[in-house]
Amino acid sequence: MKDAFRWERTILILFLLIGLAGNAILIRAAGTPEKSLYSRLGGYDAIAAVTDDFIGRLATDPQLSRFFSGLSVDSKKRVREHVVDQLCEATGGPCVYTGRTMKTAHAGLGITNNDWNVTVNHLVETLNKFNVPEREQNDLLTALTKLKADIVEK
Ligand code: HEM
Repeated sequence: MKDAFRWERTILILFLLIGLAGNAILIRAAGTPEKSLYSRLGGYDAIAAVTDDFIGRLATDPQLSRFFSGLSVDSKKRVREHVVDQLCEATGGPCVYTGRTMKTAHAGLGITNNDWNVTVNHLVETLNKFNVPEREQNDLLTALTKLKADIVEK
């Protein structure tokens, strides 16, 4: 009788331990959220480097350079900083974008669908240069495509 009780108790304790271990695994799995796109891209410095390369390509592209040629040095710096902040915020980073809305900033520039496509091609070239993996590239392009309707006018 005493032995049977001891067995029952051992089995009960075993089940309890298995239950606790299972819960710990579940909690750990749920408690490690996927890293933000910001982190997966490499954080602020990586985003700033990507932005500089990207803007450099736009500013020297024969079709797109006209959009940027009239900007003062300081205006270019401001646009650059705002693009960094916007990408940082849009990818889940700690930045706050304080620039104008995409609609306001681009209204009247007459950006065409083709300008947009050329821009996206430059971005992909930049991302390839920085060896950004395909998944991160797709996530970033998906985030930016949401802005297209506010940027493209023609
Ligand atoms: C990938 C999508 C794009 C993003 C995320 C983006 C983002 C931005 C941001 C954050 C600013 C600064 C706004 C401010 O300072 O308040 C800006 C300004 C500007 N963007 Fe874009 N842009 C995009 C596409 C384009 C395209 C396709 C063009 C032209 C081909 C363009 C031309 C400009 C110009 C000329 C300005 C300066 C406007 C001004 O200061 O008056 N952008 N953009």
